[in-house]
Amino acid sequence: APTTPAYRIGFSQCSTEGPWRIAMLEGMQRELSFHPEVQLRMLDAKDNSERQQQQIRELVREGIDLLIVSPYESGPVTPAVEEAFERGIPVVQIDRRITSDKYTAFVGGNNVEVGQTAARYAAQLLHQRGNVIEIKGTPGSSATTGRHQGFVQGLRTYPGLKVLSEVTGDWREDALKPALTAALKAHPEVSLIFAHNDGMGLGAYEVCQQLGITKRVQIIGVDGLGGKNLVHRGILKATMLYSPGGEDAIRTALRILRREPFKRENTLGTIVIDSTNVLTLIEQADRVVSQQRDIERQQSLLHDLEATYASQRTGLYGLLVS
Ligand code: FRU
Repeated sequence: APTTPAYRIGFSQCSTEGPWRIAMLEGMQRELSFHPEVQLRMLDAKDNSERQQQQIRELVREGIDLLIVSPYESGPVTPAVEEAFERGIPVVQIDRRITSDKYTAFVGGNNVEVGQTAARYAAQLLHQRGNVIEIKGTPGSSATTGRHQGFVQGLRTYPGLKVLSEVTGDWREDALKPALTAALKAHPEVSLIFAHNDGMGLGAYEVCQQLGITKRVQIIGVDGLGGKNLVHRGILKATMLYSPGGEDAIRTALRILRREPFKRENTLGTIVIDSTNVLTLIEQADRVVSQQRDIERQQSLLHDLEATYASQRTGLYGLLVS
């Protein structure tokens, strides 16, 4: 095993909770399994911008060669990222953005497009007439701003659709519940909820269950990881795919570190996941998991072969007699 890594990547992650963030890290690890000479160190800011700034500075002090960052809130995390960039450390932003252009590359979905796609799908579900509640993520996150902007823009084409209330959910299942309960009671004419992620979509469903209105109110979400199963079970009507992009971030990082050509903006596309395609997508995801197991088996076989070869080279007693 290599003792000194060729490259050290620091990863400042805003949160490690939920299937989406877990999938992001797994994607990174999957890609890194092909590059044992690269070391990844992740620090979890647990949804706190102050902590995230401290952790970015800590990573820089430790001497990283590149910083990957998913900022909790854009504004408050920006200064620490800029400091790193100004010291010559390349910065790859993943999923969420800072407010300045002091970064090397971005990997992630287009949140405006996600919001627009949700608006179009809502219009189709409601036959262009109806009342909507929007559940937003943390106010300072760039994903919230983009999804909201796209949703509002997208709805402009449909004057028969109105957003009667906006609730802030902080990306979590439970925080939205009191405000959503109040909003649904105040607006009994609401027939659709657009939640900025699937976790909050599930929280919204639980509120509707409590109020006995799951038949009347349809819910759409964003992400499509755990959300695929929610669509399959009929809890969500649809979810807008938003890929975590862990593999892509590592690939971009390695190109930057090796001074190979790379793209500055790496946009991951979205699609609507609903009853028409959800089973296909669940099967596809299962297949990827089993292929990954095959790859891991092959890697461990290779490792064993290398070990055998190394012991033969020492000239101890090379030949296997079996
Ligand atoms: C997870 C998450 C996802 C969402 C993304 C937005 O922390 O809330 O559900 O799509 O972050 O940045």
